[in-house]
Amino acid sequence: MTTQQPTAEGASTGSGAESLTVVDNRTGQSYELPITDGTVRATDLRQIKTDPDDFGVMTYDPAFMNTAACRSEVTFLDGERGILRYRGYPIEQLAENSSFLEVAYLLLEGELPSKDELEQWEHDITHHTFVHENVRRLMEGFRYDAHPMGMLQAGVAALSTFYPESKEIDDPENRRRQIIRLIAKMPTLGAFGYRHSQGMPFVYPRNELSYSANFLSMLFEIGVKDYTPDPRLVRALDVLFILHADHEQNCSTSSVRAVGSSQADPYSSVSAGIGALYGPLHGGANEAVLQMLRRIEKVENVPDFLEAVKNRKELLMGFGHRVYKNFDPRATIIKKATDEVFEVTGVNPLLKIALELEKHALEEDFFVERKLYPNVDFYSGLIYEALGMPTEMFTVLFAIGRTPGWVAQWNEMLNDKEQKIARPRQVYVGSGERDYVPVASR
Ligand code: SDX
Repeated sequence: MTTQQPTAEGASTGSGAESLTVVDNRTGQSYELPITDGTVRATDLRQIKTDPDDFGVMTYDPAFMNTAACRSEVTFLDGERGILRYRGYPIEQLAENSSFLEVAYLLLEGELPSKDELEQWEHDITHHTFVHENVRRLMEGFRYDAHPMGMLQAGVAALSTFYPESKEIDDPENRRRQIIRLIAKMPTLGAFGYRHSQGMPFVYPRNELSYSANFLSMLFEIGVKDYTPDPRLVRALDVLFILHADHEQNCSTSSVRAVGSSQADPYSSVSAGIGALYGPLHGGANEAVLQMLRRIEKVENVPDFLEAVKNRKELLMGFGHRVYKNFDPRATIIKKATDEVFEVTGVNPLLKIALELEKHALEEDFFVERKLYPNVDFYSGLIYEALGMPTEMFTVLFAIGRTPGWVAQWNEMLNDKEQKIARPRQVYVGSGERDYVPVASR
């Protein structure tokens, strides 16, 4: 289903054919370009030449602002109407009624699991949470202050050396085994990174706990036998993972698809996605939001900070989005979850600054004109901090949540007969041919 753009008010309606008729004014030649799902094929432009030796016309689209790189059935976004659906199910309903592992199954298989399918899926994930002891030793080899995202990216890439059969990407059963391992081991690697940075012994997975409860146990259990996290916090974390599970062709997912398109193994492909997510303009924004709120320090400083944003000296981290130009539905759900978490943990003092920033940003022209609204990262950091997570763990939480989306999109790419190795073109604007000059003559 696509959102057909209505014809501009008063525009004359054409022949009604699903095509563009373009005239190349350099030659007077006209061309008929078919429109499919609201797109024209970039390769259809190559026929537009000035002479037979001409390469033909290309599209030029830095940062892919207006380029569809694939056809996908996984996630649907409507940026104007603030709609997010996983396999057709609205995010609001999944956050309310589902679990993270059930959503992971849905993203991968395309359908909600039956009771038996869900039980088998939860069993499979639960029984793959351990990592090889050499991976634990690898994580111990980092500096004491290593960022957990750097450790996570290295740990996931290292898994490719423990499962060399994962290179057999043409075998669906093999792909599924690696996908289960990735979803299962991400929290273990994330928790090991955190415990290392705290100088604490690693806590091993416990099979009797749910996915999110087990993660909290591996993070926070200290000398308490059978540590059981507060179920309200477990539920809040599970909902946060659901909200982060997929988001169509964002920077990190596009990176996973691009690396996977060379037929690299899934661990190498996902570690590329972790690298992209680490950036402060993407998943690293949740960490940057808390750093920004701390720098603002108190509500009275908000007007000065917003002036700095308007003068391009600051970015309002947690605001703006390439697709959502109205509101990010995930931010709405997270903001509601904030209240529930704060009932248990007490209100985060930085919330007042966040609410003041949001109030000004929703009213002031600079932000309204640029359609800058809070995105998923604006409030998530406040909840993570309330859950006791250190700031540098926030993007690790994003990565754990996004793993089902990365692997579902990777899997879909490999099944897509239209896809091949990703290799964009360029417009060369460098020097023309010139001869080498010996150093003595320079
Ligand atoms: C995520 O793609 C996804 O789906 C990502 C994600 C996912 O689930 O995978 O949703 C997760 O990454 C959310 C975004 C987290 N990042 C941040 O919160 C960082 C702050 N946001 C900005 O860096 C920015 O809004 C982006 C990167 C999110 C979007 O950038 P775009 O689409 O390239 O928009 P742009 O940079 O062209 O901005 C348009 C205008 C510019 O002003 P002008 O030059 O036109 O005058 O808005 C300004 C920008 O300068 N602008 C901001 C701003 N974001 C955009 N100005 C101040 N603060 C900001 N946050």
